[in-house]
Amino acid sequence: MDGQPADRSISLRLATEADLAACAEIQRVALDGYLAPLGQTLTWNAPAVVGLFAHLRATDPGRFVVAERDGVPIGFASAWVRGGLWFLALLFVVPEEQGRRLGTLLLEAVLPGPRDRAPDGEPLVLGVATDSLQPISNALYARFGMVPRLPAFMLRGPLSRPEAFARLPEGVVATPFAPGGTDGGRTGADAGSALRLHADVTTAVDREVLGFVRPVDHAWLLGDRSGILLANADGEPVGYGYRRADGRLGPVATMDATLLPALVGRLARDAAADVPEQSLIVTGAAGPALVACLAAGLRITDPPTIVGWDRPFADFSRYLPTGLALV
Ligand SMILES: CC(C)(COP(=O)(O)OP(=O)(O)OC[C@H]1O[C@@H](n2cnc3c(N)ncnc32)[C@H](O)[C@@H]1OP(=O)(O)O)[C@@H](O)C(=O)NCCC(=O)NCCS
Repeated sequence: MDGQPADRSISLRLATEADLAACAEIQRVALDGYLAPLGQTLTWNAPAVVGLFAHLRATDPGRFVVAERDGVPIGFASAWVRGGLWFLALLFVVPEEQGRRLGTLLLEAVLPGPRDRAPDGEPLVLGVATDSLQPISNALYARFGMVPRLPAFMLRGPLSRPEAFARLPEGVVATPFAPGGTDGGRTGADAGSALRLHADVTTAVDREVLGFVRPVDHAWLLGDRSGILLANADGEPVGYGYRRADGRLGPVATMDATLLPALVGRLARDAAADVPEQSLIVTGAAGPALVACLAAGLRITDPPTIVGWDRPFADFSRYLPTGLALV
């Protein structure tokens, strides 16, 4: 790899599958290092974290880099590219090694190279999401053009007033899907046609709302999430949304911004039938969805994250993210 540190006891290399558990521990320790002194508690699910890392490394193996001191992992970075978007998913350095430019070196190691271009030949857009409480990362990303711009709120809780969500309008057809992409036998559609419908709807909606397609991410999301596909009366794609068995909702996307709160409501009501608590991330661009979620009883539980970019990407008024690493 290019860009090895001047300190010869530190080296950077591409991560292997065997590094991912150690990377998850670096993330946990790095987050706890600044959250604990602020009285914030970290919610941590190591298997889910490692599962996400494995997906990110599988899709972008050349953009998942580990830093070691004398062979011991002390930091890592991961980024992904979909269409014209480069996104910094993860950047963490253990507390005792912070402030010595290792974060900068790791970031430079995963940034786009001169040959990395958008499909139209333009430079890739740079995006990231970072904790509002963290001045170092906000400053570091801004220096590389990824200026913090859009607050993203983690909402959690029981759905005490589900009627606060508007219902999907007449004429919008909702087709449920189960993990794996089948419709769970609800309509009798065979697995192949259910998967084709899922691919058709998610591709059309992502192209319109995000500006890029990401079949690899949908394949991964289908591993453990169910959800809803929306079409209009003519069968044209209108939206999609996912929910996980533990009550986590997202991603959710609609062609028409006014449909977003109703689709979130449908997913939240379905989730509430299975588990007592729901959670999701809503940005400040999706105002009506945020208002509806709060009216339905969900609560803001953490300090907001901030989505940053050097040039705009995605229409967040029509989109709720998967998470902070995989937008
Ligand atoms: C964020 C993190 C990865 C950065 O790595 P690092 O090795 O500590 O960072 P570096 O030393 O390379 O650079 C930090 C830069 O921020 C600057 N900085 C620090 N505090 C700052 C502040 N309050 N305002 C502006 N700039 C600040 C530093 O001066 C330095 O820039 P310089 O090299 O020009 O002096 C690391 O601190 C970390 O893991 N933190 C905890 C976890 C975390 O928040 N990760 C990011 C989540 S999105």
